[in-house]
Amino acid sequence: MPDGKKDSEDFEARAKELVDAGYEAVEKAIIACTRCPLHETATNRVIGKGSRTPKVLFIGEAPGKNEDEKGIPFCGRAGKELDKMVEYMGLSEKDWAVINTVKCRPPENRNPKKTELESCKPFLLAQITLLDPNLIILLGNTAEKAYCPEKKLEWGVPENVEGQTVLKLFHPAALIYTRSRTGTQHELIDRNRGLWE
Ligand code: URA
Repeated sequence: MPDGKKDSEDFEARAKELVDAGYEAVEKAIIACTRCPLHETATNRVIGKGSRTPKVLFIGEAPGKNEDEKGIPFCGRAGKELDKMVEYMGLSEKDWAVINTVKCRPPENRNPKKTELESCKPFLLAQITLLDPNLIILLGNTAEKAYCPEKKLEWGVPENVEGQTVLKLFHPAALIYTRSRTGTQHELIDRNRGLWE
């Protein structure tokens, strides 16, 4: 069996155990996790925020300094940018939630390694199943690499990934870094409004 297939079966089996145990058990398992070295330097595990019945689930990258200190995703500058995006999309509080590919901050905000993404993947899959969104929005390439590493999605072009509608948009931090991308992001959102309205 190819390694990739075996890995995905392992993630799915572990995710299923978590799903069967329920969302609170997933939160406890995240807090107790020592599956990769990121837990050694993390102050807090960053589990997720928002609705427990979201129409739209955003998947970010990894906790930064503010998130690590507070244990809340997107609570710093990128979070303000995500709030603007959510407002532009016209989502209300009950409509959305956000989680990250990894629940512990990578040192110096480096990108999560493949092994770290894989260690955390059962949590990601279990959260997705339990939150059961209509639409997943992958915020940038790391979210894509974590969720569907075998795919290369086009920006702003929705795809059905094993029965789940998925859309890749720019990460809010990329909008801060390159302001001119905001216009493009708005066009991509406008083109896809039918997915959540
Ligand atoms: N960037 C992310 O991808 N996630 C956060 O929680 C904060 C910033």
